[in-house]
Amino acid sequence: MMIDKINEYLQDIENFQSEDPEEIENFRIKYLGRKGLLNDLFDEFKQIPKEEKPEVGKKINELKTRAYEKVNELKSEVSSTSKRQIDDITRPGYPMETGSRHPISLTRKEIINIFSRLGYTVSEGPEIEDNWHNFSALNFPEEHPARDMQDTFFITRNPDILLRTHTSSVQVREMETMQPPIRTISPGRVFRNEAISARAHCIFHQVEGLYIDKNVSFADLKQTLLYFAKEMFGPETQIRLRPSYFPFTEPSAEMDISCTLCGGKGCKICKYTGFLEILGCGMVDPNVLESSNIDPTQYTGFAFGMGIERIAQLKFGVNDLRFYFENDLSFLGQFRAKM
Ligand code: PHE
Repeated sequence: MMIDKINEYLQDIENFQSEDPEEIENFRIKYLGRKGLLNDLFDEFKQIPKEEKPEVGKKINELKTRAYEKVNELKSEVSSTSKRQIDDITRPGYPMETGSRHPISLTRKEIINIFSRLGYTVSEGPEIEDNWHNFSALNFPEEHPARDMQDTFFITRNPDILLRTHTSSVQVREMETMQPPIRTISPGRVFRNEAISARAHCIFHQVEGLYIDKNVSFADLKQTLLYFAKEMFGPETQIRLRPSYFPFTEPSAEMDISCTLCGGKGCKICKYTGFLEILGCGMVDPNVLESSNIDPTQYTGFAFGMGIERIAQLKFGVNDLRFYFENDLSFLGQFRAKM
């Protein structure tokens, strides 16, 4: 009799108990699966005499409902017990990942530290500049090819507005608003229209410095930079100044330090010269002082500027600039304990 069989199944469902998800799933398949007992019963149902159908049909539906209820009941018990395990307050916590500073930030901080020991303040200015602060006030003549020296990003609709190509613009702003003595460094992001490669990038970082007072001489500049080089790269570091040209300084120089790898003997890194170029510098051109209403007959000053990426490269031995901008965690994680 079908009724007896169904009652047997009902009993079986009633008795079934489990906390094992796999067992519960097998139970579900046994009754409710495509080839399960319920589908068998529905097939059988088609063959029974008409008068038995109402009673048996009702019973099969009851069986189906009970099977569903049982499966849901057991499943929800399993998920609430596993939740209880997560809430176990005696469980040890997950270890917390600590971040690290970017090598450019570390280097900038170190440069700022060194110059603040010499009494330099830190000044900042806008990254979107005007022609005056980036070029004209710095003695770049109008239409002079020197403006091409630094491939500039101009704003098409207003060529008076540009992305600063150096943070010398910040120093112009300082000179305009302050009277000497001025002793300041300006760290910041600068922009030049360069194709991105291992050795060049269209965005990079600089720290430029300015010192203006009575009787500031080239000897002061040299001593300041020697102090910086020794603090940054170690006490045995030597410096070398080579004549150079910048519109805003006269005389101008480029500074090399003795090679951080071979100490001056000559190796692959310094191309067997023993020296590595790290910054530009010079005595502030009297025209620049005048542009900012500082009397060049009373005051003199020096200025210098360096790329933070370059210093970081020598400090950490990173020889591809692109690493600094890719934010690859396996690269960034290496600087955790460096400075
Ligand atoms: N402004 C120059 C540059 O960006 C660097 C510099 C600063 C040179 C101050 C001399 C004096 O290349």
